Amino acid sequence: MSMMNRQLVLRQRPKNLCAPGDLELAEATVPELNDGEALAQVKYLSIDPTMRVWMAVDSYLPAVGIGEVMRAFGFAEVVESRSKEFKKGDKVVGLAGLQEYAVINADDKKRGFQKVPNIPFLSDTAFLGVLGITGLTAFFGMEIGAPKKGETLVVSAAAGATGSIAGQIGKIHGCRVVGIAGTDEKCKWITEELGFDAAVNYKHADWKEKLAAATPQGIDINFENVGGEVMQEVLSRMNLFGRVVLCGLISGYTKGDPGLVSFSNVLVKRLRVQGFIIIDFASRFMEAATKLGQWKMFGKIKDRETIVEGLEKAPEAINMLFTGGNIGKTLVKV
Ligand SMILES: NC(=O)c1ccc[n+]([C@@H]2O[C@H](COP(=O)([O-])OP(=O)(O)OC[C@H]3O[C@@H](n4cnc5c(N)ncnc54)[C@H](OP(=O)(O)O)[C@@H]3O)[C@@H](O)[C@H]2O)c1
Repeated sequence: MSMMNRQLVLRQRPKNLCAPGDLELAEATVPELNDGEALAQVKYLSIDPTMRVWMAVDSYLPAVGIGEVMRAFGFAEVVESRSKEFKKGDKVVGLAGLQEYAVINADDKKRGFQKVPNIPFLSDTAFLGVLGITGLTAFFGMEIGAPKKGETLVVSAAAGATGSIAGQIGKIHGCRVVGIAGTDEKCKWITEELGFDAAVNYKHADWKEKLAAATPQGIDINFENVGGEVMQEVLSRMNLFGRVVLCGLISGYTKGDPGLVSFSNVLVKRLRVQGFIIIDFASRFMEAATKLGQWKMFGKIKDRETIVEGLEKAPEAINMLFTGGNIGKTLVKV
């Protein structure tokens, strides 16, 4: 009997948060494998803010087509193979899509499936989080920020998957690290557990004064995940010749608003602003993952996950990123 594959298919482009009817649960038959292909059973899906962008518009990747399985990174296990590269039992990561089974092919560079090793102290989900796209993004973003001992680093969305790791890398480099996050619980986690020097809840009315108090020497590096008002305030406290690592502008993703800010502080403070997209660093992923793995093993970085159970809950999980319902890396357990 042929096997069925449950998938979330994009039916319409979201207007704000993901609404019922934007992604529809559908069933398709798992196709017969051709030579060179393997069938991987998806275990975990990475839930990333960029998915909301992929649902709506062309960006650094084309928008997902209407009627296509929604694009997503995933961790999967090979269950059948006609490929020389992937054998039964191999664990892989790549663009699996929001579905239970993915047909993978080592020649398909766009979906970029790679085998991951069994490392005793690492959970499988680490390959989507601390050693996956978000950990790697924090690593290369902080490389762009070029932190020096004693400098002040401010990270926005600081209790999220990327921000929480970026801030801890700042601590490794000897920076004073201040995180901006949207709940007191998140602020407590990043200061008490992760070692940030201070945290500011941007939902409190006096957050701008609190940010000023937390950055008495001004700000040398801004690891920016949010954009809009949060970024505007951080830029106003930047020191001359500071660096702005433009990682994300999540405050604009659901609003069709670019989340941009006034450039006057960039000019007056002579700031260096650099945007980056993690896929440009693909040739150095192994080097960075090795370093992140060492830091994790020696307790220099800690990570946390928000795991949502069930493929059908993926739209809710995507929305959590925009309502702040997640802490650390957000995953769907399929
Ligand atoms: N450049 C790249 O290659 C690359 C790669 C990966 C991720 N990113 C970017 O990095 C950022 C973080 O991604 P992530 O995967 O690590 O997600 P995440 O930080 O785990 O989750 C997103 C967080 O953003 C915060 N947020 C949402 N809307 C906000 C708003 N309007 N104002 C302020 N904060 C808001 C929420 O926390 P609060 O409770 O604190 O509001 C939420 O928990 C995103 O901008 C993403 O696009 C970029």
